[in-house]
Amino acid sequence: MDAIQIYGGNRLEGQTKVQGSKNAVLPILAATLLINGTCEIKNCPVISDVHHMLRLMESLCCKIERSGHTIRIYTGQLFGHDMPCNMPSDSVCVMRSSIMLLGALLARTGRVDMQYPGGCVIGKRPIDLHLKGLRKMGVVIEEREDGFLAETKGLIGAEHKLPFVSVGATENLVLAAVLAKGDTVIENAAREPEICALCDFLNQAGARIEGAGTSRILIRGVEKLHEVSYEVPADRIVAGTYLAACLCCGGEIYLKDAPCSQMTAVNVAAASMGAEVYEGSDGLQIVCKDKRKMPERLRTDSYPGFPTDLQSAFLTAMTMAEGRGTMEETIFENRFHIVGQLQKMGAKIICKENTVSVEGIERLKGNILQAEELRGGAALVLAGSAADGSSIVENRHFIERGYENICQDLRDLGVRCETMEYSGRV
Ligand code: UD1
Repeated sequence: MDAIQIYGGNRLEGQTKVQGSKNAVLPILAATLLINGTCEIKNCPVISDVHHMLRLMESLCCKIERSGHTIRIYTGQLFGHDMPCNMPSDSVCVMRSSIMLLGALLARTGRVDMQYPGGCVIGKRPIDLHLKGLRKMGVVIEEREDGFLAETKGLIGAEHKLPFVSVGATENLVLAAVLAKGDTVIENAAREPEICALCDFLNQAGARIEGAGTSRILIRGVEKLHEVSYEVPADRIVAGTYLAACLCCGGEIYLKDAPCSQMTAVNVAAASMGAEVYEGSDGLQIVCKDKRKMPERLRTDSYPGFPTDLQSAFLTAMTMAEGRGTMEETIFENRFHIVGQLQKMGAKIICKENTVSVEGIERLKGNILQAEELRGGAALVLAGSAADGSSIVENRHFIERGYENICQDLRDLGVRCETMEYSGRV
């Protein structure tokens, strides 16, 4: 079994470079489908979600060349009505971002037959907002048990008012609107930095999008887009994970390229736990003395609030802070999978609906832990890094969906950890 072994207890010291953003690059890769030509994507993280997205795009007849962190994608000969589309179902089902292909493909080919997307086991994660919005833009969608067929004779601009904030639905509607006839407005749009990155990419390719980063996005449909070269911004969630590692273990670290301006809520949360966070010339410095304070209450929210993707990493740090506090999850209804694992390590946590109460203890104890999803899995590696003794985190592949090389990064920061193949016995 794929796993990570960690010998816990080191204080952190050192520097690591933050990889390109997973949540930015996935919709940008989908957006290249809107461009009839070759795009170059730089600073692309080498993670399994990107691998799956590229595999899906190859199945749509894209030509892909990859050299390190740079990808060149030729989308000049996509499959059309007359060619079968065989998107590999394991890649569709392994990650939710496969749904990003829908808006772009409809714009380009007018017909998409696909299975429902998968993703982390963190709640229901339906796609009703995506489908409702696309129907408003002239798409006929026939749903079946395991997927749907979506067809359009031409996308038309529409006014959308999302009933609640959805990052993915905002992105899909932007993708569908860029080449649609007329204007599209998205009210109550998500404001995440990844939406800004997608819209930057599209505007550089000739799209006319205004208001990205605000809750009202206006997209004026254009005839066509042109080829573009784009550099993916650094990953604020990966940076936040390593910041949380410093909260867990104590020490002093520098996160090169961390996107400080996107991390305000995270830095405020870290400061409330006693960390000193400084914006450097090209990154973030974190100094964390031995005793962490317990934040009275942390609560996830859509951007610019505290990100749900860092909930488990901060919860892990809270288990070793002084005092009592709570963490409330407001985005996903089932995102406290790691509570049981942390309890195995001695953490004092009580989980009630969407809130957990934590009573800090001096130190977690190493154990054999099971990752069940991406961010929770990374948080367990942090738990092992701070714990007494050694830990094994099973199911490394969940973590590799979003972290290029978490072991190397954490080693750069002073953690003793390595990947291993594990037979279930130590
Ligand atoms: C994206 C991020 C993910 C992050 C999440 C919230 C990517 C690849 N993933 O996921 O890392 O945790 O934003 O910041 O960017 N919902 C519906 N119907 C819909 C769409 C969403 O009910 O049609 C619900 C979801 O179940 C969830 C909430 O809306 O409870 C927010 O989901 P959404 O913002 O869409 O998350 P994703 O785009 O899937």
